[in-house]
Amino acid sequence: MHISSKIKSVPPSGIRKFFDIVSQMKDVVSLGVGEPDFVTPWRIREACIYSLGKGYTTYTSNYGLLELRRLIAADIEKTYGVEYNPENQLLITVGASEAIMLVMHAILEPGDEVIIPEPCFVAYKPCVIFAGGNPVTVCTDHTSGFLPAPEEIEAAVTPRTRAIFLSYPNNPTGAVMPKETLQAIVDIAVKHNLYIISDDIYDKLIYGETHTCIPSLPGAYQRTVYVNGFSKAYAMTGWRIGFAAANPELLEAMMKVHQYMVMCAPIMAQMAAIEAMKNGEQDMQDMVRQYNHRRGLIVKSLNNMGLECTTPKGAFYAFPSIKSTGLSSEEFAEKLLLEEKVAVVPGNSFGDCGEGYVRCAYATSIQNIQIAMERMSRFVKKISS
Ligand SMILES: Cc1ncc(COP(=O)(O)O)c(C=O)c1O
Repeated sequence: MHISSKIKSVPPSGIRKFFDIVSQMKDVVSLGVGEPDFVTPWRIREACIYSLGKGYTTYTSNYGLLELRRLIAADIEKTYGVEYNPENQLLITVGASEAIMLVMHAILEPGDEVIIPEPCFVAYKPCVIFAGGNPVTVCTDHTSGFLPAPEEIEAAVTPRTRAIFLSYPNNPTGAVMPKETLQAIVDIAVKHNLYIISDDIYDKLIYGETHTCIPSLPGAYQRTVYVNGFSKAYAMTGWRIGFAAANPELLEAMMKVHQYMVMCAPIMAQMAAIEAMKNGEQDMQDMVRQYNHRRGLIVKSLNNMGLECTTPKGAFYAFPSIKSTGLSSEEFAEKLLLEEKVAVVPGNSFGDCGEGYVRCAYATSIQNIQIAMERMSRFVKKISS
């Protein structure tokens, strides 16, 4: 039977394929999947249980519960000074993932181009393609701190360009883009009348840097779709709650797709997110402190074993170069897994220019990181001798 060529053109996620193998093996230490090792804080789980006890089991408004939208709008205003009207500028989605897909469907005509700096989160390119667009990638590497120069972004603009995708702190590199560079890219978007899609899912996981919220920059507000969610900061990956904020016209277009695709995000998860917004700050800060501690350990260990690793400034990933070993990313990850039972993700899963790197998530215990680093160091010594 026929399968759409658009769908066939996109390979399944390299990460999932790899972790299907990992799940069949024993005693593997995994630095693989990008999700917190913490269980969702108890007060958040309890809020969900309470809401179920009260019988909250219905659909909500397509936009999501107004109380949750109000809390999110207040948090964005307090943290970044950016105002969104919770009535018509905020949409609660099924994870940030859904928000990203909605934007693409809302803004793209067939053949429109979206500029995406790489390496990047695995879903961006497929979302563009599924919505009929063409992803145009701009490669970065560790010599520039995995940051594209604004001129490189501008060089990728064509008459078909509709949007620029930005996501800092970045998955998989942990890079944070300085405010001046972001402003220069906003100016390019203004000059060429482009949207900016800002995926800020790691904004709260940042270490000693200040996060710049793109819509707070001059010229950015009207043309930026701000995407965020609860998965990473509040250890809520399984709840599937994210959100998008944009100008009312674009948000309504996104809402239309959302309405016919999923109707609304699950009410129990929205109730839990309300608790996270009201009382989750302390728990979140505790987790961030622990990620920061682990970050120091992993970066030092990787550099000590001869794998050059720039210090990630946010998120919970280290992205060392493995070029000195002479192996490809996939060979390195596969051999490391089979010979030392450590799982890392080949860098090329995040785009072609991720070749020569591997992603090591430090969202796991200090003890696991220590064991993984010992095994990995032994492996690097063995293959270099
Ligand atoms: C950059 C980035 N954006 C979005 C997501 C998806 O988040 P959610 O769980 O909210 O769908 C991820 C998950 O790994 C991510 O790394």
